[in-house]
Amino acid sequence: MSEIDSMTQVADIQARALLALAAVDDLPALDEWRVSFMGRRSALTQLMRSLGSLPAEDRPALGAFANTARRTLEEALSDRRREIARAQPEAAADAIDVTLPGWPTPRGGIHPTTRIVREICAAFASMGFSVVEGPEIEWDHYNFEMLNIPRHHPARDMWDTLWIDFEDADGERPMLLRTHTSPMQARIMESTRPPVRVVVPGKCYRYEATDPRHEWHFYQIEGLAVDRGIAMTDLKGTLYEFARRMFGVDRKVRFRCDYFPFVEPGVDMSIDCFLCQGDGCRVCSHTGWIEIMGAGMVHPNVLEGVGYDPNIYTGFAFGMGPERISMLKHGIEDIRLFYSNDLRFLRQFS
Ligand code: PHE
Repeated sequence: MSEIDSMTQVADIQARALLALAAVDDLPALDEWRVSFMGRRSALTQLMRSLGSLPAEDRPALGAFANTARRTLEEALSDRRREIARAQPEAAADAIDVTLPGWPTPRGGIHPTTRIVREICAAFASMGFSVVEGPEIEWDHYNFEMLNIPRHHPARDMWDTLWIDFEDADGERPMLLRTHTSPMQARIMESTRPPVRVVVPGKCYRYEATDPRHEWHFYQIEGLAVDRGIAMTDLKGTLYEFARRMFGVDRKVRFRCDYFPFVEPGVDMSIDCFLCQGDGCRVCSHTGWIEIMGAGMVHPNVLEGVGYDPNIYTGFAFGMGPERISMLKHGIEDIRLFYSNDLRFLRQFS
């Protein structure tokens, strides 16, 4: 059959169907009409099925033509159904049960990560910190160099980096997915004068295998306070107050030496286990302590790099993983749950 023949046939089917439809005046007849003109064995359906055997160049035009005819018939059918229902409400009452409840609209909820990020930011906002965000695609310059981590320095191994496939004239890759929110320390200080008091929530990326405690993408919340006369006591006091707000007023905190190239001294901060009160249990790996963040006094090289005089200004910085904090608060055992979009997990938070 040629393309023209087929088109004539479609037009003919459509004309006959519409003519027959005009004569239909109750719902059973309407259903019969639907079966004979649009059902599986109807001429139109058969014709559409046989499209596959046509020469390839004829298929699109005829396919489109047949689809239009089908849509025309569908619309005519629902128009006719409405007309009949209006004329015979008692028949329509059988077809549409108006006493059935409507479809419930699913209610969305706030993602647990968003929830904990907001909670943490609110705790710091109430202590005078403002909230700032920064780019996820970052320059090597801010992610490393401005943070006292020069090119080819072994400290870079602390962050397994996802590089952007782009080389500069020296054959170096200057662009990456930020491995932490710390680059915002440099960006903020570069563009403002002290006093600085900010927290920076945002997504970070690392080229890492995943396991229950590691994701290759996750959030961090960075904190930075720089002014005249800021000392280690301010760091300890601020973070202690934060821990009490997040985990309860009885929390004890512990600071131990740790190394991050952009702080000196550097520390890691732990809280006493809120589950076993320090006796040792599964949550705290039987140590009684849970590490919740890295922190330290901003390194003089970092201050100098952004044009702050380290003889006048000092400051502290900290960085934490909000998913980890949420895991501790809610007894969540696998960080990957945050990003696997399982509604059974997510619904528990809304
Ligand atoms: N950026 C560090 C990390 O990702 C954490 C940190 C932030 C440590 C600020 C000290 C000060 O491991």
